[in-house]
Amino acid sequence: MDPSYEIVQVFDEKDIKALNRCWELNEHRRRNQDQYYNLFFCDHRYPSSTDKVYQERLQKLVDHLGDWNANKHYLLEYGVGGYARLHHDDPVVGKTMVTLLKDTDLKGGATLIEMKGHDRQLDIVDLNVGDTVIYGHDVHHAVSVVREGIRRVHIGWMKPNKQKK
Ligand SMILES: [Fe+2]
Repeated sequence: MDPSYEIVQVFDEKDIKALNRCWELNEHRRRNQDQYYNLFFCDHRYPSSTDKVYQERLQKLVDHLGDWNANKHYLLEYGVGGYARLHHDDPVVGKTMVTLLKDTDLKGGATLIEMKGHDRQLDIVDLNVGDTVIYGHDVHHAVSVVREGIRRVHIGWMKPNKQKK
């Protein structure tokens, strides 16, 4: 596998079900914009810091990395026409963890990652529901345009607790 990213299993079926339920319960905590930085035509939802079900799952991501914390995190859905243009994440972030929660009738909406040491050579990341892909903030990535169906993910921007500077 290309060393620009790794795919890990942090969540079980029950966790994925719980995170999808969090999506449904947080319709009132949403931001739906034509463009939000590098994301286009996506629906973001932000569960509360007091949402125990959500926070327990977030903790699983943190535990996977060890001495890290979740700097920013949210649920994100790409509908038809939604995409992420090619970009890399904010350097304040150490690693990004993206978990596929739902891909009902999805056509398009592929995760694309630039291969390390191969300028502008893109790899399509094959994600199954429940998989989490991890990559560094400096790795270029994109999501191709969703042509049909939906692509729902959880995004975690993870930061090491002790910054080496
Ligand atoms: Fe990104």
